[in-house]
Parts: sequence; C-alpha cells; structure tokens
Amino acid sequence: MEIESEIDVGVQRALLDKVRRHTGIHMADRKWTLLQGRLRRRLQALELSRYRDYLAVLDAQPEEVGAFINLVTTNETSFFRTPRIWDHFRQQLLPEWFRQHRGATLQLWSAAASTGEEAYSMAMLCEEFREHHPAFKYQILATDIASHVLATGKAGHYQGKSIEGLRRTHPELAAKYFQPSGEGYLASPSLRAHVLFREHHLHRRLDGAARFDIALLRNVLIYFDEEGQCSVLENVHRAMAPGGVLVIGESESLTRLNVGFEFEQPLIYRRGERAHA
Ligand SMILES: C[S@@+](CC[C@H](N)C(=O)[O-])C[C@H]1O[C@@H](n2cnc3c(N)ncnc32)[C@H](O)[C@@H]1O
Repeated sequence: MEIESEIDVGVQRALLDKVRRHTGIHMADRKWTLLQGRLRRRLQALELSRYRDYLAVLDAQPEEVGAFINLVTTNETSFFRTPRIWDHFRQQLLPEWFRQHRGATLQLWSAAASTGEEAYSMAMLCEEFREHHPAFKYQILATDIASHVLATGKAGHYQGKSIEGLRRTHPELAAKYFQPSGEGYLASPSLRAHVLFREHHLHRRLDGAARFDIALLRNVLIYFDEEGQCSVLENVHRAMAPGGVLVIGESESLTRLNVGFEFEQPLIYRRGERAHA
C-alpha cells in the first residue's frame, strides 16, 4: 500500500502533540521527518495510507497508545555506558552507602531503563561488592514508559551489539553473569532476582514512600522541555531518600533548574533534605 508523502501541517502538528501528550517528549516541528519515518511502519502494518487516519485510530483505540509509545521513544543504551560513572559507583557510592547503612537494603532505581543494560550493570557491581561484604543487600527497580524494551529487560536475554559490547569491555563480568542461551546470552538468576522491571511514566508520581538511595536518570531529560524536566525531577525527588544520589546523563545538567538537588560532581547530584508535604 502506498503511504501519502504530502502531509497536512495540521496532521503533523497533531501527531507531534500526541507524542508530548503520551510521553512528555517535546518534539519541535522540525522533528516531523523523524516521527514520520518512525510511524511509517505502523501505518503499513495497519494498512493505512494516510497519517490522518492513524491519528483517528490513536483517538479511537486506547490500546494503540502503547504501540505509539514504543515507536516514538529512543531506546539506545548499553552496558556500563559512560564508564566513569561506573567507576564512581563501584569505588565510592557502594562502599560509602554500606558504611553508613549497616543492616539496611540499598534501594536503586534505573528510572529510564530501556532494555535493562543499565539495571544489570548495577546488579553486576552489587554482586561483586556482595562477594566481599556478604551482609550487603540491594534491590533494583527498573522502569520505562515503553513496554517493548521492558520485555527484553524482564527476559534478561541479550544478543548482538548489546552483549558483544559487554563481552569486549568487561569479559570477566560477562562470563560470570551471562550464560550462552539460544542466539544470545541470559543474565544469571542472581542478577535477575535483584531487578524488578515495571512500566512507569516519569511525569507521574511513583507510588510508595521516598526510598531510593541511588537513582539513575540518564539520557532521558534531554527529550523534555524545561517545564517537563522540572516536573520529572520533582517526581524523582519525591521518590528518593533524603541524601540520596542522583546520576544524570553526559549531555544533561541540572544547573539552571531549581529542583532540590545539590551538585556534587559532574553528572552526580545529591537530594537535599527537604521533605515533601
Ligand atoms: C535513550 S534511553 C536511555 C536508557 C538508559 N537510561 C541509558 O542512559 O542508557 C531513554 C529511555 O527513556 C524512556 N522514556 C522516554 N520518555 C519517558 C517517560 N516519560 N517516562 C519514562 N521513560 C521514558 C524511553 O522509552 C527510553 O527507553
């Protein structure tokens, strides 16, 4: 089926607006070509030739929203992305937290987890730490708005570029924590037992008490405008324990935003003691 190539500006704007409404992601008008490319396959699958008809499907069928979110989000990630963060995690954050919280369980959050490489990177370093400190306990919550990436994380099964990257940069950890399985490698039961994957929209409040000692909110703020960033950071702030550590992505900064996190070093912030009403 031939898909229209001349698209009414009103339809373009309406679809860009749907992205914001459903994900909080701000796509300026100039991003239309990107969005068009991503939606094309979906139109083909639904045998629609006009973007205006897809808009009508999105309005009429709430179950289409999940597919739309899966298409419009950018899910790029890798194991141990940004190595210096992980050095800091292993050398400073884990030992410091353990010294100060004997008997407690370290609560970690991968807040835009994508396919789970970030959460399993944390889990591997926690397992390594536990080998030397058997009393150490931890739990990881991995959340994302896109259901298709969470399915990969839950399965804990990686192939291609993802696992090859880990095998190249961290061969010992890859061999210890990932076993060959089918076309790829499966995360060990010890890793999988510590990571819970769940759908969560960062523009909503996470349920439960403020509890996270360490939250990774990396490479996702860049997709929101300033108002959206503030609202997401307010929600993350609420979910974190006082004094908790927030890690952001390399192309992100909180310096212009007054959101209750204190700068500690590049990419690392600490949640202030301010309590929420
Ligand atoms: C580029 S990936 C970053 C993955 C990982 N944090 C990293 O740094 O490698 C961005 C992720 O944010 C997710 N995302 C986008 N908007 C979101 C929202 N409003 N709530 C939760 N997750 C969102 C996307 O689905 C995507 O998986």
